Amino acid sequence: MRILISQQDLERRVRELAAAIDRDYAGCDRLVCVGVLKGSVFFMVDLLKCLTVPLAIDFFQTASYGSATSPGEVRIRKDIDLSIRGKDVLLIEDIVDTGWTLRTILDLLRFRGARSVKLCALLDKAAAREVDIQIDYRGFEIEKLFVVGYGLDFDERYRNLPYIAVLDAEDAAGGAPVP
Ligand code: IMP
Ligand code: MG
Repeated sequence: MRILISQQDLERRVRELAAAIDRDYAGCDRLVCVGVLKGSVFFMVDLLKCLTVPLAIDFFQTASYGSATSPGEVRIRKDIDLSIRGKDVLLIEDIVDTGWTLRTILDLLRFRGARSVKLCALLDKAAAREVDIQIDYRGFEIEKLFVVGYGLDFDERYRNLPYIAVLDAEDAAGGAPVP
């Protein structure tokens, strides 16, 4: 597996993103940070440990129907528990690929009356985008490659790698040892 983004580069970028978020939300009494399970967990924990703004956390879990006849149809498997009416919400995601998952969640958060909704995404696969998504805090733009590590998986494997790596065909076939 080829390392695309090292642990050191991830740590540095996470600190920079946190500094920007802290600056923008200075004076906010409670920022509701919403992660999308499971991929965003590693990134979210590291990011939130660097923030000083008072915050609450919550989670969505989504699944796509994965059908060619319903592209972009996203299912909410787990909804957030907190009320977000009138709240400032920061949505935290591991990667924006086609954009369908985030389009669905962002629309839902706005529909529920959040005061503001911003998006923080670690990775942006811009070349794969099918719907327009504004990324307010973006870690890295990457090529249209399948990546794993730091929360991202292939068939539930590799999430715990401390770096982002490119998965090649041999790894996908199970040729590489599971870390
Ligand atoms: P979207 O709805 O196409 O933007 O899909 C976003 C979701 O697909 C992400 O939250 C990931 O769970 C998954 N995904 C997209 N690209 C990758 C990748 O390169 N590696 C692992 N998961 C990915
Ligand atoms: Mg995800």
